[in-house]
Amino acid sequence: MELRIPPTRSLRGRLRVPGDKSVTHRGLMLGALAQGESTLYHPLKAGDTLSTAQAMRQLGAEINEVGEHFRIRGIGLRLQEPPDVLDCGNAGTLMRLLVGLLAGQEFFAVLSGDASLRRRPMGRVTAPLRQMGARIEGRENGRLAPLAVRGGGLRGIHYELPVASAQVKSAILLAGLFAEEDTEVVEPAPTRDHTERLFRHYGLPLEVEGGLVRTRRADPFAAKDLTVPGDFSSAAFFVVAALITPDSEVILEGVGLNPTRTGLLTVLKEMGADLTWEVTEGKEGEPVGVIQARSSALKGVSVDPGLIPLMVDEVPALAAAAAWAEGETYIPNLSELRVKESDRLAAIAKNLELLGVRVEAGPDWLRIRGGGVRSDGVVEPFHDHRIAMAFAVCGLPKGVVVREAHWASISFPSFWDDLERLRGGASSDGP
Ligand code: S3P
Repeated sequence: MELRIPPTRSLRGRLRVPGDKSVTHRGLMLGALAQGESTLYHPLKAGDTLSTAQAMRQLGAEINEVGEHFRIRGIGLRLQEPPDVLDCGNAGTLMRLLVGLLAGQEFFAVLSGDASLRRRPMGRVTAPLRQMGARIEGRENGRLAPLAVRGGGLRGIHYELPVASAQVKSAILLAGLFAEEDTEVVEPAPTRDHTERLFRHYGLPLEVEGGLVRTRRADPFAAKDLTVPGDFSSAAFFVVAALITPDSEVILEGVGLNPTRTGLLTVLKEMGADLTWEVTEGKEGEPVGVIQARSSALKGVSVDPGLIPLMVDEVPALAAAAAWAEGETYIPNLSELRVKESDRLAAIAKNLELLGVRVEAGPDWLRIRGGGVRSDGVVEPFHDHRIAMAFAVCGLPKGVVVREAHWASISFPSFWDDLERLRGGASSDGP
């Protein structure tokens, strides 16, 4: 699907973005492991999380859509051997967290996914899980999917993460729920802490001491309802869209404002953004609130490398803002972007070039010369939802053609409709 978006003169309105992808994946998994029925309110229903719902059904949980929510009947800590391959689709979070979960289960399971997921590094989870005693095979000695797991008989480990990754941390913590002795994970830098918050929500064993997270074998636990906040990573596209489009004001409501996710707001403020946010409520341990963004004269900055793990999915959106800033923006510490749904560092550089923006790409950094984009550029998502949305946003003020626009549905199925509504209605300038 190719989409043409005419030049956007103004972006105005209020928006409630869909549920958080990370929290929805985890809510489905932990709801399936719980005993009894619970409701997952306002989950993300999109490509990635529907893959998770399907995988948990194959493992014995009952999951039904009730209106916009999920009703989950958990089967307890012992899942059932799946009758077929677990298809993780495009979802790295699903595959990595599920291998952790399956490491604790005494049966055989195979996980696979689409071409992008089968290229992504899995050694970062299979190595520590093997140390815990799980038997895991996979292509290139367990570095690539498909992965075959026969779990059970786990022992706890003390593990220092070689990369700052919430997915790896979470995979080990989930396995730790089935291990003898304590399991400890040490992070080199803080990453999103949704797993820890959900362990607390369900009363699962958890201790946090600075950068060290500890868990241990869990007793059966009761199902409990969970409300999913709006996804900050989805809101980020509209925040940047409002900043770079003239005569704009966008208010995003019900957005998750967990500080391990909002590094982008810090950087945008430093760039001079007319941006405010406020936490208005806490839902099951996750702060939730409102973000207000208005047209701004941005200036380039040098981004603090320590902020990158707190905005790892927002770098494409930041690049879109940098393209419109005055002066140069330098973004370091981007090696993890090479192994996302696409090689995002390369995809960002290519799309900036396609839009006429001067950019220099190093092995793990980007230097973006701002000043705006050329009119009517064509952008190329490289099968990556966040690249599709970020560069649609980048091209908004001048008009843009987005190839493969359907990829947005991996995390934000209503993105194009929401954008159209804020652009002032489909009546005149609709794509
Ligand atoms: C996620 C963690 C991040 C992020 C991904 C979701 C999670 O990945 O990029 O979209 O839900 O734990 P890494 O932990 O591998 O950086």
